[in-house]
Amino acid sequence: MKRIEIQSEAVEKIKKYTVTDQVLGFGKYMAPIMVIAEYKNGAWGKATLMPYGPLQLDPCAKVLHYAQEIFEGLKAYRHPEGDITLFRPELNAQRFNFSAARMAMPEYPVDMFVEACETITAYSRNIVPKRLGESLYLRPFMIASEAGLGIKPAKEFIFGVVASPSGNYFSSSSVKVYVERDEVRAATGGIGNAKTGGNYAASLRSYKRTLEESCDQTMWLDSKEHAYVEEMSGMNFFAVINGVFTTPPLSDSILAGVTRRSLMELAQRRKWPVVEERIHLDDLIAKIKSGACTEAFVCGTASVLVPIASLKFKDGTTIHMREPDGKLCLELKEELINVQAGRVEAPEGWLHPVPVIEF
Ligand SMILES: Cc1ncc(COP(=O)(O)O)c(C=O)c1O
Repeated sequence: MKRIEIQSEAVEKIKKYTVTDQVLGFGKYMAPIMVIAEYKNGAWGKATLMPYGPLQLDPCAKVLHYAQEIFEGLKAYRHPEGDITLFRPELNAQRFNFSAARMAMPEYPVDMFVEACETITAYSRNIVPKRLGESLYLRPFMIASEAGLGIKPAKEFIFGVVASPSGNYFSSSSVKVYVERDEVRAATGGIGNAKTGGNYAASLRSYKRTLEESCDQTMWLDSKEHAYVEEMSGMNFFAVINGVFTTPPLSDSILAGVTRRSLMELAQRRKWPVVEERIHLDDLIAKIKSGACTEAFVCGTASVLVPIASLKFKDGTTIHMREPDGKLCLELKEELINVQAGRVEAPEGWLHPVPVIEF
């Protein structure tokens, strides 16, 4: 962690900061420090750990007009013995650079990305939650800071990482899903497999509808036929069909979730069958009704894994899952949480230790 400049004001801020709330929620509390680096003249400047605060942006910064921005989400966990690890941060770094390439932005070197995450976590050590299922959520991001109204890729960028001690993303133990059959989140050839703001902006109107329908998450279908299940606005989708963990294959309109991949690998470790297969909505409905599909769930870094209780449609029809508390899903969720928190042996290379720094 030698390559990041540490401002003494940041150290003073974090030393004084505590969180006493018993219900952390998601993204409610922000660590009072952040890592920031700037890209100018074709190169990244030195990253700095500084006090958390507003960024100064020109009103014509391209991110504000043309949404040239990307972000990531990953977590740091406290183990029973007190040591802290990041969960597969290299995968987030690689996906960050995949998103950067898609959005005509410069790469941020994988080792620097990981070091920035390590550094903010190391200094936030005292606010990494202790309870199982809680963690320090990290949000790396990059924005186009160059000013100019011309629609062209910027030449100046800001990279940053902020951190939030977090608990459950959803307040309930299962989710009600609203199936969006009209609008589309991401189209073939578009930017759906990049973690960039535009995809989330495209999901928000439907999210309002989702809430109006008393549901928690929007399910998105493919852009051509509006028939095949893709994913949620911020989570991947799995159904357990005839005992097989089934998830749509990755495409350019689905984000390659780290949780999705990790759950597939953990299921395979248990010798549970897993397939990546297109899921036609009508077929899924028929299988839920016949009992061939008893469980389904959403998964992502923020939410971990949450069983789906029901699917609701525009005409008000609702289909209830037979196992709204997903027995198999929850077994897998427990295994992932225990792996992340160092209570069950993790597959090689999954846990990235965060060094202890005296400050
Ligand atoms: C659109 C979308 N799909 C899936 C996921 C799940 O990805 P991960 O498991 O890497 O958090 C996310 C969250 O990052 C997301 O925003």
